[in-house]
Amino acid sequence: MSEIEKGARVPVQLVLNGTAHTGFAESRMLLSDFLREVLGATDVHVGCEHGVCGCCTVLIDGVAARSCLTLAVQAEATTIETASSLASADGELNHLQAAFRKHHALQCGFCTPGILMSLTDLLRREPEPTRERVVDVVSGHLCRCTGYSGIIDAAMDAVNAGSPKT
Ligand code: FES
Ligand code: FES
Repeated sequence: MSEIEKGARVPVQLVLNGTAHTGFAESRMLLSDFLREVLGATDVHVGCEHGVCGCCTVLIDGVAARSCLTLAVQAEATTIETASSLASADGELNHLQAAFRKHHALQCGFCTPGILMSLTDLLRREPEPTRERVVDVVSGHLCRCTGYSGIIDAAMDAVNAGSPKT
């Protein structure tokens, strides 16, 4: 018999958007489901569940990752950031979010949290990316609504604004 019985839940401790949490997950539970269903982080969207659409993207220890391709138990002792962490405590949007609003870079908004987190990762690593670099990053996400132009324009607007809070 394996050390962890089938269906048994194990504790997972992590920091989500600055707050320490402990939840319980079966060993096969996806991080996306853990964040949504156990920790209540419904800003993590779930679409394809096999790494294609990108809407479940979060930052794991500062690196953009598909939470549907990560097991909850793999996130033990990590720091997770989701789109909810981007605005200030009083609800003021950061430069990237404000640029999304300005450029109508979202319609239904289903893809938006994941795109925001991938662009946040990009802008932290490369504060002045080229438009081609932004297109390359956004190409890892599926958006059925916007046609992408507004998303690219918003990202470049945030780049030009210096985006200090991304
Ligand atoms: S739900 Fe994770 S990539 Fe689509
Ligand atoms: S805004 Fe609807 S999927 Fe992107």
